[in-house]
Amino acid sequence: MQRVSNRRRFLELAAVSVATTVIAAACAPASVSSPTQAPAAAGSPAPTQPAAATATQAPSAAAPTPTSAPAPAAGATATPSGFGKFTAQPVTAPPGYTPATGKLEIFSWWTSGGEVEALNYLYGDFKALNPQCEIVNSAITGGTASGGNMKAVLQTRMMGGDPPESFQIHLGHELFDSYVVAGKMEPLDTLYADEGYDKVFPKMLIELASYQGKPYSVPCNIHRTNVLWYNTAMLKDIGAEPPTTWDELLAIAEKLKAKGVGTLGLAESSPGPSAQLFESILMGHSFLGPAGYRGLFTGETSWSDPKITDALNLLAKLIPYFNPDYLSVSWGDINDLMINRKVAMMVMGDWTPGVLWSKGFNDFGWADPPDGKGIYAFTSDSFGLPKGVKNRQAAINWLKVCGSKHGQEGFNFYKGSIPARTDADLSQYTDYHKWANKLWTDPKTEIVGSIVHGVAAKPSFNVDFQTAINVFVTKKDVTAAREALLKAAKDAGFKT
Ligand code: GAL
Repeated sequence: MQRVSNRRRFLELAAVSVATTVIAAACAPASVSSPTQAPAAAGSPAPTQPAAATATQAPSAAAPTPTSAPAPAAGATATPSGFGKFTAQPVTAPPGYTPATGKLEIFSWWTSGGEVEALNYLYGDFKALNPQCEIVNSAITGGTASGGNMKAVLQTRMMGGDPPESFQIHLGHELFDSYVVAGKMEPLDTLYADEGYDKVFPKMLIELASYQGKPYSVPCNIHRTNVLWYNTAMLKDIGAEPPTTWDELLAIAEKLKAKGVGTLGLAESSPGPSAQLFESILMGHSFLGPAGYRGLFTGETSWSDPKITDALNLLAKLIPYFNPDYLSVSWGDINDLMINRKVAMMVMGDWTPGVLWSKGFNDFGWADPPDGKGIYAFTSDSFGLPKGVKNRQAAINWLKVCGSKHGQEGFNFYKGSIPARTDADLSQYTDYHKWANKLWTDPKTEIVGSIVHGVAAKPSFNVDFQTAINVFVTKKDVTAAREALLKAAKDAGFKT
């Protein structure tokens, strides 16, 4: 019962404020970068400034050089060290399958360890089923917020009537408010019916993919965004267990400081990670709690709630225990700091194990974040079908791969997430995946949507939220941060 009501409340959350579009004029990208490298200075505002590269601005240098994707064999998949073993049966086409020819261009921001292997696995399935179709991998890394550079270039392409065949997008408000409400996407009700998705995706995900009763994207996964990751040896050295409260974490932090190392890794070279940490604090049992957090988006909780100030004060207390260079470290590098024993822990999403595994690092553990036992903040990566694509058959065949059991089983093994499909076989999965899946499917779990990863609030609010917290971890001014959050909430039509 509890689960039903939690989920109902969550869906109410998703139903608000879908009427605003954020499509806005964007500048043309100025130069070209390799898809696997961060474009120089693109979308990375100086830490002392508010985020300049919002979701409505293109970065100055963020156009990808599309590359033909490698086509790993879909059967007997090679497994990089650290992942353990995953073996896939060869993928087979269902009767009546129409292979695509021509080109398939896919946008994503999957350029890091784990992400690349996961994406390549899907490409391998597509290539096996569509051998005459060339895959153009337009992945772009970096930028403000997750996928900031990709999102900006994508907007330019969508506005210019030149969409790729498909692109990565989070379910919920990011999907609706970026492109669906604006009428830029095709509804996928026929695909859902043909592929039987109604029977294999959780109802909650289908609702988060649907606008005015029709689904607009195919979810590939469920990521938990609020996990405490820790370097096992570092905690062992000081005789500490993973902290379950923020006070415990602060006590551990003092011991680590005495050893000359940081406690919490933070990669705030551009806004995003500090806001993700802050949302994890905010939804914790001692602050708003999951119900209070959901209420921020339904009008039940006011953004003037004093617990928000308490959460800012806690974040301020944590700052001295971040890696000292937190304002210049990027997400890719923060993982190395934990591997190299410069920081002991991170509160981050479960794309983290994909990166760590891909680096051959296994000496890490995971736990609920302090004060967050049983709270599962989540996001779901999905792919949709823009109107006016050049190669519709290829796009449809791509979506079928993304939604397939074969595709999701391999993809999520590498990605660190769990499959969106409820019928996936997890027997080859790691202990981490199984731990996450157990919590996700536990009726007592409190499931809430991540702001930073697109589910809970519209993109314009998300950008304002991330900017406010980025400025806060830079200037440490609680009053100014309260005002910035209140203004963002007012602008978004939330209760203040
Ligand atoms: C998230 C996304 C994940 C992963 C992560 C870091 O927003 O859902 O798939 O890519 O960003 O890049």
